[in-house]
Amino acid sequence: VHWTAEEKTALTSVWRKVNVEQDGHDALSRLLVVYPWTQRYFSSFGNLSNVTAINGNAKVKAHGKKVLTAVGNAIQHLDSVKHHLADLSKSHAQELHVDPENFKRLGEVLVIVLATKLGSAFTPQVQAAWEKFINVLVAALSHGYF
Ligand code: HEM
Repeated sequence: VHWTAEEKTALTSVWRKVNVEQDGHDALSRLLVVYPWTQRYFSSFGNLSNVTAINGNAKVKAHGKKVLTAVGNAIQHLDSVKHHLADLSKSHAQELHVDPENFKRLGEVLVIVLATKLGSAFTPQVQAAWEKFINVLVAALSHGYF
């Protein structure tokens, strides 16, 4: 994958504004509410029975931070995302048995969280760079399934 200087700037400058704890919590909560079938993977997290329970769930919060920290690591290694996410891809495929379609859904909610946070600074060009990055992220996470 080739990244232009503008794309790299769009990704890293947005990432500097991200709070992995708060935005990770928002993204994972949104995933669980908007795509409720994703809840089945998190049966060990306790009560996810409604929006209030999901938003107040400490395990969701802690896990959202882990997920966004991994996304941040990928942004630090844009030229080797696949290599960098190889172990996570294997664990999601072989141990967690996560349907890889769900990676796309997480990418979608992440774009919404970023757009909400950044408002007019999330320009079409910035969104384009993020959509490209999310495709690369999803492909890298899906790689261990084949
Ligand atoms: C665990 C990252 C998408 C389900 C993890 C961990 C990370 C991670 C870093 C912790 C691994 C560890 O502690 O060794 C990501 C990233 C994703 C993603 C970067 C996409 C951008 C998903 C999706 C699902 C999912 C879409 C399900 C719908 C899980 C589950 C665990 C896990 C069930 C184990 C949780 C636990 O029991 O603590 N993921 N993940 N992940 N992930 Fe993902």
